[in-house]
Amino acid sequence: MNVAADHHGLNCEAQGEQRGWKRQFMRPEGWVGGLFGRLMARKNADQTLTGIELFDVRPQDHVLEIGFGPGVGIQALTARAREGRVCGVDWSNAMVAQAAQRNRAAVSARRVELRHGAADRLPYPDAVFDKVFEANSFHIWPDRDAALREIYRVLKPGGRLMLCLRMKHPTRTKFVAPGHTVEDIRTIAASLEPIGLTIQQQETRELGRTITYLVAAKPN
Ligand SMILES: C[S@@+](CC[C@H](N)C(=O)[O-])C[C@H]1O[C@@H](n2cnc3c(N)ncnc32)[C@H](O)[C@@H]1O
Repeated sequence: MNVAADHHGLNCEAQGEQRGWKRQFMRPEGWVGGLFGRLMARKNADQTLTGIELFDVRPQDHVLEIGFGPGVGIQALTARAREGRVCGVDWSNAMVAQAAQRNRAAVSARRVELRHGAADRLPYPDAVFDKVFEANSFHIWPDRDAALREIYRVLKPGGRLMLCLRMKHPTRTKFVAPGHTVEDIRTIAASLEPIGLTIQQQETRELGRTITYLVAAKPN
C-alpha cells in the first residue's frame, strides 16, 4: 500500500501515487468506475447519512456537496433541504452520470444541480451556500488549503462546513479503505482556523469503522 505523509502531514494515501483499483475510488472512470460507484453507494451510505443527520440541514438551506460519488448524500440532502437547493461537484464524469441517474427526478425539477468540477476551483459565486458537505473525499483532494479557501469563499456568513472523516482501521492494512489517524484529525482541525473557519462540533461514531465528523463555521 502506498502511504505518504503529505504537506499537511496526513498519513492517508496520496492521490498521485495510486494505481489500479484504488484509483477508481479516488476518481472513478468508465464502466469499471460505475461498478465502484455502486459499491460505494452500499458501503458508505451509513457514514454519509449519519453525517447529514448530525449536520442539521434546514428546509430552506442551499447546500453544496463536494465529491458526491454515486449521489447517495445528494439524495438525503435534497430530502432535508426541501425548499432549498442542492448542488454538487465531482471531478469524475462517471460519478456525475451515476449521481444524476440516482437523483433524476430532483435534477429534472431543478432542485439538484450536479457539475463536473474540482474542490479547489468551485464553479460558484461568493457567499451562496448555507452548508457545504463532504464524505470520504477530503483525503483525496490534491490541494486541501486551496479547497478550504474555496469553501470559505462560497459559504454565506454564518454558513457551515461538515467533513466526514473515516479513521484508520485499527488492525488491518490490506484490502481496507484508507483512514485518518487521531493526529491527522488534529492537523485538519488546525488547518481550518487560518482559513477563517471555526470548529463548532467534533463527534465520532462507530459504523463498522470509526468516523469523525468535524463541523466548522464561517463567522457572521
Ligand atoms: C471515495 S469516493 C466517495 C464518494 C461518496 N462521497 C461516498 O462517500 O460514497 C470520492 C469521491 O470524491 C471525488 N473527488 C475526489 N477528489 C475530488 C476533488 N478534488 N474534486 C472533486 N471531486 C473529487 C471522486 O471522484 C469520488 O467520486
